[in-house]
Amino acid sequence: MNAAVPYLDLAAQLRPIRAEVDAAIARTLDNNSFCLGPDVAQFEKDFARFCGAQHCLGMNSGTSALHVALLLLGVRPGDEVITTPYTFVATSWAISYVGAKPVYVDIDAATFNLDPALVARAITPRTKAILPVHLYGHPCDMDALLAIARKHNLPLVEDACQAHGAKYKGRTVGTLGAISAFSFYPAKNLGAAGEAGALVTNDPAFAARAKSLREHGSTKRYHHDEVGFNYRMEGLQGAVLGVKLKHLAQWQAGRRRVAARYAELLADTPLRLPQQADYAESAWHLYTVRHARRDELKKFLDENGVGNAVHYPMPLHLQKCYANLGYKPGDFPAAERASREVLSLPMFAELTDAQLERVAAVVKDFFRK
Ligand SMILES: Cc1ncc(COP(=O)(O)O)c(C=O)c1O
Repeated sequence: MNAAVPYLDLAAQLRPIRAEVDAAIARTLDNNSFCLGPDVAQFEKDFARFCGAQHCLGMNSGTSALHVALLLLGVRPGDEVITTPYTFVATSWAISYVGAKPVYVDIDAATFNLDPALVARAITPRTKAILPVHLYGHPCDMDALLAIARKHNLPLVEDACQAHGAKYKGRTVGTLGAISAFSFYPAKNLGAAGEAGALVTNDPAFAARAKSLREHGSTKRYHHDEVGFNYRMEGLQGAVLGVKLKHLAQWQAGRRRVAARYAELLADTPLRLPQQADYAESAWHLYTVRHARRDELKKFLDENGVGNAVHYPMPLHLQKCYANLGYKPGDFPAAERASREVLSLPMFAELTDAQLERVAAVVKDFFRK
């Protein structure tokens, strides 16, 4: 009987750093620094340095960071924001939260990211921002997107929620647009022990206002300059993330090893494997393969104890919550086809060679059937 291969094993990540994490949590409990506090402040400095950015503001989620980013840019009801239909729904939530309209354009089938040529065609006088997503950790074609943004004098917000440490032409993503958002949801490459996120920017005025917006619109206690939010990062999350950030480079190397090994092991299968564009160094958040018989393959992996997941089974333009936008099946063929074909295989730094070989053996069994 072969051992099951989990889709994700957070316990394996925690085990070697457990004492460090326990000590950081104990320190926060002793300090009573539960909302923001010294560990969050230190983490903000460290994560800004990791990204090569001037400012990082710890938030309670990536969704909140995206929301604040659009508020900082003054996106308002009636405005349009160009974005991808092929992402986790929270990218579009931020647009809806400020009362604006998500305007979707299709993806490039090779990278699953916004197709810059289509972005240019979707710009109208109402367009206020472009919101690309570095999906699965693979950077968007940023030079092409930034050229369009500059030409039309539009700000670009990076949804870097899946792309900690990914590089575009050697530059860390999250520093290429006006503002970026990161998620530290537990399953992310850098994951908190609960919900957390961050807004990253090089603009001091954006940073100052984001700091106020996340804390009830105030810079001085009980004095509120504008309507704000409770989007603060918890002290415990800052403490845990501070410990984990020290190990991130090593975990990223582990993910690259896993991706390289999959590429060897699965090369002679009919699967379409993820490729890095020549400008990209992926964060390998997910290892997402494609095949027309995805649902059968998924069932076979489930039956044989190989963890897997579908990211994402339904593009946003076909979701019930966005029926009011008036899109219909067929509007974005590349995104729709991807949603029928994609399957994410186990991807985490601690996967052993034996586990990777097991995944490949089960995939090969499926195609031999
Ligand atoms: C692409 C993308 N955008 C936004 C988010 C939202 O982040 P959070 O779950 O921290 O709110 C996530 C993660 O869940 C995501 O994957």
